[in-house]
Amino acid sequence: LEQHPKERDASRTQKLTEQKLTTREEGKATLKNGSKNKKQAADDYQFVLEEIDFMKASVMDGDNFDYEEMEDSLEKSRAKSALEALKEERRKLPIYPYREELLQAISDHQVLVIVGETGSGKTTQIPQYLHEAGYAKRGMIACIQPRCVAAMSVAARVSQEMGVKLGQEVGYSIRFEDCTSEKTILKYMTDGMLLRELLGEPDLASYSVVMVDEAHERTLSTDILFALVKDIAQFHPDLKVLISSATLDAEKFSDYFDSATIFKIPGRRYPVEINFIKAPQADYLDAAIATSLQIHVTQPPGDILVFLTGQEEIETAEEILKHRTRGLGTKIAELIICPVYANLPTDLQAKIFEPTPEGARKVVLATNIAETSLTIDGIKYVIDPGFCEMKSYNPRTGSETLLVTPISKASALQRAGRSGRTGPGKCFRLYTAYSFHNEMDDNTVPEIQRTNLANLVLTLKSLGIHDLVHFDFMDNPPSEAIISALELLYALCALNNSGQLTKVGRRMAEFPVDPMLSKMIVASEKYKCSDEIISIAAMLSVGNSIFYCPKDKQVHADNARMNFHTGNVGDHIALLKVYNSWKETNYSTQWCYENYIQVRSMKWARDVLDQLAGLLERVEIELTSNPGNLDAIKKSIASGFFPHFALQQKDRSYKTFKHLETVNIHPSSGLAQVLPSWVVYHELVFTTKKYVRQVTEFKLEWLKEIAPHYYQRKDAMRVLWAADQLRLADVMSLLRLAADGTLL
Ligand code: CDP
Ligand code: MG
Repeated sequence: LEQHPKERDASRTQKLTEQKLTTREEGKATLKNGSKNKKQAADDYQFVLEEIDFMKASVMDGDNFDYEEMEDSLEKSRAKSALEALKEERRKLPIYPYREELLQAISDHQVLVIVGETGSGKTTQIPQYLHEAGYAKRGMIACIQPRCVAAMSVAARVSQEMGVKLGQEVGYSIRFEDCTSEKTILKYMTDGMLLRELLGEPDLASYSVVMVDEAHERTLSTDILFALVKDIAQFHPDLKVLISSATLDAEKFSDYFDSATIFKIPGRRYPVEINFIKAPQADYLDAAIATSLQIHVTQPPGDILVFLTGQEEIETAEEILKHRTRGLGTKIAELIICPVYANLPTDLQAKIFEPTPEGARKVVLATNIAETSLTIDGIKYVIDPGFCEMKSYNPRTGSETLLVTPISKASALQRAGRSGRTGPGKCFRLYTAYSFHNEMDDNTVPEIQRTNLANLVLTLKSLGIHDLVHFDFMDNPPSEAIISALELLYALCALNNSGQLTKVGRRMAEFPVDPMLSKMIVASEKYKCSDEIISIAAMLSVGNSIFYCPKDKQVHADNARMNFHTGNVGDHIALLKVYNSWKETNYSTQWCYENYIQVRSMKWARDVLDQLAGLLERVEIELTSNPGNLDAIKKSIASGFFPHFALQQKDRSYKTFKHLETVNIHPSSGLAQVLPSWVVYHELVFTTKKYVRQVTEFKLEWLKEIAPHYYQRKDAMRVLWAADQLRLADVMSLLRLAADGTLL
């Protein structure tokens, strides 16, 4: 067959460049080793250069040689073959044979519920099909994801499949990161981001299609989007609404959307052998690790997927696995460990999808993000300990905690299904058949019924939705949760006493963070320290991954961390010190290493800070710095977090002021040994005990200035009764506070 001249050129250039590169490398290497014989090396190098010249002359037409162009065309030819391969893969997906039928159904119906097993190609293909069918001419195609990692990684994949640069035609938008441009037509975004966009564009006019993906996850924001999108569709007949889900409760979605048509994509599934454990396990993490190793040593090739509950647990498992496989040395095949969790840095995300090299085995340690949001090819074995981390909310105390809870049967089925995608699989359940049948719930409770609704209520109020009682929820939230959300927003001065949004509330709604945090930011205007407060807010948004502590250097790492706590300034101000010191070194990576601080987290904080600074400008709050006045900073913090105010008891524990819960300062806090009388805390976590994290000292006198409407005389009296063995001075202060006319 006659080769097309262009292709021939490409392959010729490729060969030449490869040769040239290796020769050049060899040349350099020779020069490096040259210390023993410099003269010889120089001669060799000269020879190499001449060789290259000779090649240039012989292959190219001498003076027409253009190295840049050559590299460029080489790059293009590589990309072209990769693109071809991806096209081929796309055609193999279970959804592909239904392409035309699906497009027809979408054109026939305004709202369509699409059901198909995980991995069938819903998320990556449907938006592309829509684009190919011309929908993007009428507006962007939005694909809504409940998780940031999924939005990012799927967008990256789709941009590859389309052969475009990520952020151009295909982009993603997640909290604190907008990777889109004017060119973007396929936009993968989190549900929370679409909610925020609705604030600026209530009719979604710039979109032609909104695909609410992973609908079965039933996150809070997805549930709200259902209602809003349903409403918008009624007066925006051109907007197509797709609801896609991986599970079979499609009827529920269809009913909610006025009997919308259901489109089923038949899955290809191989049989999965399910093994239950005979007796309950005391330590599921240990059991999971042992099972992984056992599979690795005894089972035929195929990757392993282990479901764990969170980042910390995954990191522990990674450490132990590395340690144990090192012990086995070269006696076993290589085991590649891939962690997957919500805040996974982008560079590690790519690693999950890389094909496993011949002879090795991959073990993916994932949270339930891998249950349906992400499909990893090549998984043959699933290990399911039967737990996940879930938010739980107590509307009475307003406390929200992350708890490790047993999964539902629906989740267990999904997890098992992950092993049978590309061939017969095996699932090892680390719980008994009895607990599966008798102790697990059928379905997971939707988030709306187990979370703090303050953020949601604030968003709805800013969208002009006031009647929350008659709002068209798919599943109603508990009414106590709505009431306590309204109470909190009122206490934060975001709502007035007739329930309307105040100026403070409108400003707060601009920030994509929880109401207490946004109140803290808005309040910093009064104390003239907005600069410090947004830095603290950015650092808090990063979560608990600022400091790291290698096991073998624990003492050094602890010392480095405690340096930022000099003067017992409290955790918030310590975070500020970390950020500012990093900034002073001109964002040095070396400085982070020396201080046992995660560079990645700091960079993320810097990005968040930039965004927050932009939003400050939008709500017309001046950026002011007041670094010397720590009280001003603490008062701003307390202006948002006064509901999290606690008082020390003699046994080192604390009593929360409003709801009289007994809590302890988390050992990682700089104040864990100092134990000030009064503290304000950022969050409550429940592990072996109830711990409060990110703690700052607070002065009782400030209450009158900050929250006279929230704490009443009776609160002071109740805490006096409830707390154990208070210090005399604290009792006196409380009595004085109760007697003082300023509290109601
Ligand atoms: O949404 P659904 O679960 O139906 O499938 P999908 O996410 O569109 O995945 C279709 C295929 O794309 C799977 O075979 C994945 O392995 C692949 N994929 C990938 O290689 N990299 C990604 N970041 C996402 C998907
Ligand atoms: Mg999907």
